[in-house]
Amino acid sequence: HRHLLGVAGLAPWEAVWLLDEAEGWIGRAKRSDILRGCTIINAFFENSTRTLLSFEIAGKRLGADVVNMTVGASSVKKGETLLDTALTLNAMHPQALVIRHGASGAVQLISEKVDCPVLNAGDGRHEHPTQALLDALTIRRRKGRIEGLTVAICGDILHSRVARSNFALLGSLGAKVRAVAPPTLLGDAVDRLVVDCFTSMDEGLADADVVMMLRLQRERMTGGYVPSPREYFRFYGLTADRLKHAKADVLVMHPGPMNRGVEIDSAVADDIVRSGVTEQVEMGVAVRMACLDVLTRNQRGVAGW
Ligand code: CP
Repeated sequence: HRHLLGVAGLAPWEAVWLLDEAEGWIGRAKRSDILRGCTIINAFFENSTRTLLSFEIAGKRLGADVVNMTVGASSVKKGETLLDTALTLNAMHPQALVIRHGASGAVQLISEKVDCPVLNAGDGRHEHPTQALLDALTIRRRKGRIEGLTVAICGDILHSRVARSNFALLGSLGAKVRAVAPPTLLGDAVDRLVVDCFTSMDEGLADADVVMMLRLQRERMTGGYVPSPREYFRFYGLTADRLKHAKADVLVMHPGPMNRGVEIDSAVADDIVRSGVTEQVEMGVAVRMACLDVLTRNQRGVAGW
């Protein structure tokens, strides 16, 4: 069986195929019992609202038995190691494991020790593949294509797994991807030949088709420079005025959770024409249904990936 550890492991045709599969699951009424009898464990070692709930809803809409392990209520708090926890979950014989962890690489480590497909629901600063897929699906539906679009990803890129997965996926699907951030938060984007880097918001937003805003991940800023929210908003906050530099029909995105008045002004977050934020959440369920279906096909004896 295959895992979904990152978009880095996906060929462009595989990503497009997953997006096509997800299209088939869009809509409130879309349900199935193809995963009836399957157990899916969501093991979240880090907090989540969107990813945890949408994986749970996705599994249930496919007829699976879905159980959640959140770290606060688990024996991780009693000192159990990551691998012991993983082996415990594996012994319950799930058909898929969905894992979020604060350490980059932790999800891959678990995938090497278990007998079922593992889906990465976000590991440290590394990857968040289903987020990038749902972002790509939102863009494709709103704009009709991805190839040739200018996508500005703005904010705390240094600490962002969402940015890393989106650079890889949107770049491989033919978008022109920009990183826009203070010099201290650009991270290794400057080393990526596929990404154009900007430290000025106005320049980075110029003629953009899509603007994707990122939260300042204070919880990952250990020891380094931490900008004050007011200072950050003044130079890097997305306001309606600043958004005028982008195309008139710009699509504004945010993976959530949003910090209003820090990286995004409320007027922009609530702009029902240009904001795609709630559509991103809706696409998240469809993408996760597609991923759970495709990744468990071999387990279910169906010709799969
Ligand atoms: N976008 C995202 O991963 O949100 P959560 O942290 O709420 O899952």
